[in-house]
Amino acid sequence: MDQIAVVTGASRGIGKAIALHLAEANFRVACVSTRVEQASQVAEGLPGEGHLGFGCDIANSAAVDALTSGVVEKMGVPAALVNNAGITQDTLVLRMKNEDWDRVIQTNLTGTFYMIRAFSKAMMRARYGRIVNISSIIASTGAAGQANYAASKAGIEGLTRSVAKEYGSRGITCNAVAPGFIETDMTQSLPDELKDHVLKTSPAGRLGSGADVAALVTFLCSESSGYITGQVITVDGGLTL
Ligand code: NAI
Repeated sequence: MDQIAVVTGASRGIGKAIALHLAEANFRVACVSTRVEQASQVAEGLPGEGHLGFGCDIANSAAVDALTSGVVEKMGVPAALVNNAGITQDTLVLRMKNEDWDRVIQTNLTGTFYMIRAFSKAMMRARYGRIVNISSIIASTGAAGQANYAASKAGIEGLTRSVAKEYGSRGITCNAVAPGFIETDMTQSLPDELKDHVLKTSPAGRLGSGADVAALVTFLCSESSGYITGQVITVDGGLTL
């Protein structure tokens, strides 16, 4: 029987690419996004059958609990959970409002925690699970104007290592993937000079694609990755070397 994977932020960008790769690897995918229409549209376009779209604001604990019951009821217990949904709200520290800080931490870090807490209950009972959290190279490099985002992603990496230790004996792995510069809506608004700088300094000599990230995530969601846990794996074309 096909395994089930939950992917947050699946409506576009990296999350959509991850949903596609998982579907191609015979997972039935629960595509999660803030808007159910967009999530369902992506689910319907995936190869194979049995994919479903769900609307959920991962920053809302009650909504995440309702999502968990909905996924388990309609699809079954997920074998894999990919926490990809994330936002930016960039500005310099001196100008950063409490709301700018809170919103990014609440969505990226607390939302990832809510998802892990909710979905891991059923995984624990099944004594099997693959959890993959999407971090960023900014967690370790830092970036001017992204203190909230960097802190949220560094938090995700600490969360990942702790979950790996807590859940290891239950057959559940937890890893993080740290992408570099990937061409999506999130990076579209960044200045051309920054993109040129990435092109010139990256050993790969190109920007990344969603597929570059999705290939690793799909491996980490597979049974074969069972001896890898608590790791942060960078996918940046060598940019941070
Ligand atoms: P994007 O902005 O294109 O897509 C973000 C997705 O998250 C959308 O589907 C959106 O609906 C969903 N989302 C946002 N807030 C949500 C919420 N509260 N509840 C549920 N869903 C929510 O972003 P992109 O570029 O595809 O990024 C995906 C992940 O990869 C993010 O966590 C981002 O931080 C990370 N990342 C992206 C990089 C890049 O260069 N694009 C580099 C490093 C990390």
